[in-house]
Amino acid sequence: MSHELLMRLLNASLFLSVVALGAAAVYLYRRQREREEEYMSLLLALSSLIELKDPYTEGHCARVRNAIGYFGAELGLSKREINDVIVAATLHDIGKMGVPDEILQKPGRLDDEEFAVVKRHPGWGADSLGSIRRFAKAATLVRHHHEAYDGGGYPDGLVGAAIPAGSRVIAVLDAYDAMTSDRAYRKALPPERAREILIQNSGRQFDPDVVRIFLGYEAGEAERMLDPVCGMPGVKRMFATTDGRTVFFCSEACRGKWRQNPEKYRDKMTLK
Ligand SMILES: [Fe+2]
Repeated sequence: MSHELLMRLLNASLFLSVVALGAAAVYLYRRQREREEEYMSLLLALSSLIELKDPYTEGHCARVRNAIGYFGAELGLSKREINDVIVAATLHDIGKMGVPDEILQKPGRLDDEEFAVVKRHPGWGADSLGSIRRFAKAATLVRHHHEAYDGGGYPDGLVGAAIPAGSRVIAVLDAYDAMTSDRAYRKALPPERAREILIQNSGRQFDPDVVRIFLGYEAGEAERMLDPVCGMPGVKRMFATTDGRTVFFCSEACRGKWRQNPEKYRDKMTLK
């Protein structure tokens, strides 16, 4: 075989290998994307089940989830850790499926026995998620989303930094969102009052760093971009313009509410 022929054959096989590798890469990329989409739908389907069970949490999971990126970056969490927090924030109350409706929707205060049942929801949620390998880390965050910074929380009474950072973030976002939403036994608190309560409980129930970030003390970024409808930090891609300026929202639901009646939220608007 001549040297020239050998070189041609080598070139041809090299070319075919590159094409085959390229095709394999495209195939794997597409499969990965399909799997990611399926995975996201699974998350959303599961979170819509929680909302069926407890209508007061409607829209709540989406609002909490939207703020995570902001907090994760401020706390120096990696992209993977932020993803685990998003999964946990989406599914943190899935254990409420095990709490009877008459307790979950009771219009008055819960007695000790009823509260003991409610306190089991983080453990139930973590146990069911933990059986799925991909949700293992998120399951730990779910287990600890009701721990308090001073150790007075449940289910394990962890203190300070022993509580996973993701759980500390979810605790603040969850509490704020619960306070500013209507409940069976009370009306929603105004965002200013809810923020005062966060400050009062900073270092007790809540991680002071997370509260500080939430209130946007340092950068002022969150303060400038607060959603006028719910008072949560707005996200950059969720905005509307009014009088030539931009207003940010945490979710499509809040932007929709604002569009119906922008005047109602005029005082609360932080424009850029
Ligand atoms: Fe919870």
